[in-house]
Amino acid sequence: MKIFMDKNINWVEIDRRALAGNVRSFRRLLDPQARFMPVIKSNAYGHGLPEVASLLAGSKQVDWLGLNSLDEAVALRKLGIRKPLLLLGYVPLGRLAEAARNDIRLTVYNRETVQALAKIKTKKKILLHIKLETGTNRQGIGLDEAINLAGLVKEHPHLFLEGYSTHFANIEDTTDRSYPDGQKENYRNMIARLEKLGHSAPVNHVACTAAALIFPDTHKNLARIGIGLYGLWPSRETMLAVRDRDPGFSLAPVLAWKTRVAQIKTVPSGSFIGYGCTYRTTRKTRLAVLPVGYYDGYDRRLSNTAHVLIKGKRAPIRGRVCMNLCLADITDIPGVKLEDEAVLLGRQDKEHISAEQLASWIGTINYEVVTRINPLLPRVIVNK
Ligand SMILES: Cc1ncc(COP(=O)(O)O)c(C=O)c1O
Repeated sequence: MKIFMDKNINWVEIDRRALAGNVRSFRRLLDPQARFMPVIKSNAYGHGLPEVASLLAGSKQVDWLGLNSLDEAVALRKLGIRKPLLLLGYVPLGRLAEAARNDIRLTVYNRETVQALAKIKTKKKILLHIKLETGTNRQGIGLDEAINLAGLVKEHPHLFLEGYSTHFANIEDTTDRSYPDGQKENYRNMIARLEKLGHSAPVNHVACTAAALIFPDTHKNLARIGIGLYGLWPSRETMLAVRDRDPGFSLAPVLAWKTRVAQIKTVPSGSFIGYGCTYRTTRKTRLAVLPVGYYDGYDRRLSNTAHVLIKGKRAPIRGRVCMNLCLADITDIPGVKLEDEAVLLGRQDKEHISAEQLASWIGTINYEVVTRINPLLPRVIVNK
């Protein structure tokens, strides 16, 4: 069954020029020998996987594309995207042959996966990247296991150890560089040991957006750039550090999220608004009913907290955000009409609601705000 969402009441706009500008910014920033791999997992951080992938696929400045799941990668192959695709996430043992058939590079960090890959009959090489554990204590393996795994890969001519990688634990939320410095050191030592034992690999990658911006020595020969591609800063600390060091570096947000006024009503002073009667008007109030709710990804914690933009002005959300609706106070915005555009995230005239603003209202990070916009909402590519 296809789940239906109306294209005209609640949609996401993707600014083609902003995306292209961010690609140029990173291409200029990265070492010339570093491949630029935009990370477009999780529906391209909510921006729309097919839309973003098709915009990037034709770019000479983009080398590889990074994804989380096999389904994302297979979907891109079905769209005809031929760029190298690297999976950062887990592939179930039973689906490894499908990954090989679709020419998808894999991140590996357990013996069972490599043993299953070894049994696949294929004429093409399967390209593997071993993820090293340097201090995040998430996905990845220590030196001894990596030596064993690299040895196992070498035993099978159809497997090729193309890369090593690691991921930083504490780079976004702090200006203290000691933890990432330690991880860099661990990585260097592990690679030196692996190379000494004859297990070298041509590709090395450790940088996410914050690392690429703060530590040029992390660019290696591939950088995995996620949040920055979408024009969002990994954190305030990162933005301030870059602003000091490289004032010419700029990013432009790519995504706007919009809806339309579905009803306008006036209620007397003293009226309760919405479920739970959590807001009571203190004056005669004009309300705009907006056809967007927590099903769409507009978080319920925005109840009685957020603003939306209507006619270039801020309209406060009154009462609780419902599953498919919320209510904005338009008493101070004259002339609002049925189907006027309301901006939930993005710019309207001189006003702007950023992903960071929404994140601070609900106690999370910009990453979560954009990735949780319901994937079923239409993504529309616009030229601004
Ligand atoms: C392994 C890995 N590399 C790179 C990235 C991209 O990080 P960022 O969005 O901070 O650039 C992520 C994001 O979650 C990741 O998990």
